Amino acid sequence: MFNEKIQIGLKKQLNRELESSQLYLSMASWMECQHGSLEGISNFLYDHSDEERKHMLRLIRYINKRGGSSDIFMKSTFLEEVSYNSLKELFQKLFEHEKIISKEINSLVELSLQERDYFTYNFLQWYIEEQIEEEALTKMILDKIILVEKDKAGLYLFDRDIKNFHQKMKSSCKS
Ligand code: FEO
Repeated sequence: MFNEKIQIGLKKQLNRELESSQLYLSMASWMECQHGSLEGISNFLYDHSDEERKHMLRLIRYINKRGGSSDIFMKSTFLEEVSYNSLKELFQKLFEHEKIISKEINSLVELSLQERDYFTYNFLQWYIEEQIEEEALTKMILDKIILVEKDKAGLYLFDRDIKNFHQKMKSSCKS
């Protein structure tokens, strides 16, 4: 029987990943509507929404593999806001969101150690690596947005950078 406390923690996490996917999706759509010419950023956000969904699937499949129960979804308390005053505000929110997710992953890792569930401890290492990357990435984007936000040419170049960076990330994931 899969440890009940661990299962509850993992289920909460998979719902957070679902919420993350929805958050990125709503931001992508907002970007596309409000800043249609900056398609590098909106494409990055659309693709990242898919990534978050994959994070959710990984958790679902792990719970099922361990013999957990399949009533996985919780009522979402999310997405009351889908509008932003600026690009800076959007990426500030994203960075804060990723920091919250990192904290939650840390708590789950702690729980797995308390419960001596070393399989789950091992499983969660992938999420730790991922959060290090995601926090660094959203912080890097935010810092750059702060630098170029008021400068249209700078914003155009930044969007192109994101497009190139995103393409590189996608092709390194394939190889
Ligand atoms: Fe899967 Fe960005 O947390």
